[in-house]
Amino acid sequence: MQIIHHTLDLRTQVKKWHMAGETVCLVPTMGNLHEGHLSLVDRAKQLADHVVATIFVNPMQFIQGEDFDTYPRTLEQDSMALFERGASTLFAPGVEEVYPAGLEHHTEISVPSMDGFLCGASRPGHFNGVATVVSKLFNLVQPDTAIFGQKDYQQLLVIKRMVDDLCIPIDIVSLATVREDDGLALSSRNGYLSESDRIKAPVIYQQLQSIAEQLKKGNRNFADLESVGKKNLKEQNFDPEYLSIRRQADLTLPEASDTDFVVLLAARLGTTRLIDNIILS
Ligand code: PAJ
Repeated sequence: MQIIHHTLDLRTQVKKWHMAGETVCLVPTMGNLHEGHLSLVDRAKQLADHVVATIFVNPMQFIQGEDFDTYPRTLEQDSMALFERGASTLFAPGVEEVYPAGLEHHTEISVPSMDGFLCGASRPGHFNGVATVVSKLFNLVQPDTAIFGQKDYQQLLVIKRMVDDLCIPIDIVSLATVREDDGLALSSRNGYLSESDRIKAPVIYQQLQSIAEQLKKGNRNFADLESVGKKNLKEQNFDPEYLSIRRQADLTLPEASDTDFVVLLAARLGTTRLIDNIILS
């Protein structure tokens, strides 16, 4: 596996692959890789001749007061994991490589149809940062396919919508959330949890499952389901930011006649912000 730090080297490599008619799949990450990330790499290998995994903790998508400085950076461990999983290339640029002219006045991509609500409400500017860095990676790597996890469901729809709106010729593939045995969705931020909070954390997925069960049974009292779920979370010392039943396709509010839902949740446990969702058709 080759490790590339500079955009010029990446461009040279990408050009060679394209000249040879070989396909490329991109797996963007912020590192501190776990089985969720690595499942994306496994799928990418099935889809293209070359897998480019990227590790970049993107300052543009962190809002003030968030964990940009403390976000776990474990490049050596991550490159071993990628090598073992058969990624052909790791692109791990520094901030100055991605933002040579700095962040101030940098061009931003915004996807207003998928922003301003749920995570977009509590993290203003976050999705602009995600859309901007992902579009930069798309331009640098020029992949045929790019893979994202359903764990970050709103992010997935932001990217899909950006690709549609801007006619970007890349297929977006999404993969199911990988979980611990007790149901907790794998996340680089789980490492922030204290021992006792880690034991409590699966309650998030349990609440999502119980709402999913009700929806499957035909319960369409969305507001009630949401407020009971929030109450249960509060009783277990979670501080829920949102718990919302939405339409799967575009995150708009559902109606009783709908059948394809996604239930999304963000909550704080101690100082750790956790997100999760459950998709049901
Ligand atoms: P990061 O949080 O590192 O996640 C990278 C990719 O892994 C995303 O597509 C995310 O949805 C997926 N992922 C995370 N946890 C997962 C799990 N438990 N199961 C399956 N997939 C999982 O998301 C980002 O980085 C950034 O916003 C990024 C897209 C790289 C832009 O900076």
